[in-house]
Amino acid sequence: MEGKLVRLRAFEKSDLDSIMKWINDEEVTDFLAGGMLTYPVSSIAEEKFIEAAVKSSDTDKSFVIETLAEHKYLGGTAFHAINWLNRSAGLGITIGDKSFWGRGYGTDAMRVMMRLGFDKMNLHRLWLHVHDYNQRAIASYEKCGFKREGVLREDRFYRGRYHDTIVMGILESEYRATA
Ligand SMILES: CC(C)(COP(=O)(O)OP(=O)(O)OC[C@H]1O[C@@H](n2cnc3c(N)ncnc32)[C@H](O)[C@@H]1OP(=O)(O)O)[C@@H](O)C(=O)NCCC(=O)NCCS
Repeated sequence: MEGKLVRLRAFEKSDLDSIMKWINDEEVTDFLAGGMLTYPVSSIAEEKFIEAAVKSSDTDKSFVIETLAEHKYLGGTAFHAINWLNRSAGLGITIGDKSFWGRGYGTDAMRVMMRLGFDKMNLHRLWLHVHDYNQRAIASYEKCGFKREGVLREDRFYRGRYHDTIVMGILESEYRATA
């Protein structure tokens, strides 16, 4: 699926080298919700991640974000904890190539995910967790129409102190009102 700047596509084995360039870069991983990449990751583990990502799953759907122009790998995005009863899904996004931060690629990728989630998967609510020190991500999500729904107080230990985690979400009706 294509946006204005990026395309979402399935993972390929050949993505491993591109992933290994950022997966142990703390300037990227410190932002990821829940500190999910706190410990060093090996290429063996990452190969397994790719294998899992390409398998069919009812609860998780992961994609590579690449540039439209040159098919350059930028990072990944995923729906997780998809709940077909309540028609909700968690959302994660990472532009691993820091030189592409702040240039509109993440917001464009998020808009493609919203189109996929609401228009194709018929979801009702998308939600995500973002740490309070990740102002770039918060600005990007707000541009996409996500609202702040609540705060998990002192949920994240980062650089010697506890930070809040903000729960953000968007409903299908809100998406339709702006799409
Ligand atoms: C979060 C992320 C996906 C956003 O993608 P991006 O391409 O960098 O973001 P965009 O350029 O589309 O939009 C960022 C917006 O935040 C603004 N911004 C940048 N730094 C900011 C800051 N420190 N404070 C407030 N706003 C900021 C930008 O100006 C831009 O808004 P604008 O287009 O109105 O000028 C990307 O930066 C990323 O992957 N970061 C590392 C991993 C991460 O944080 N993942 C999300 C975990 S919840």
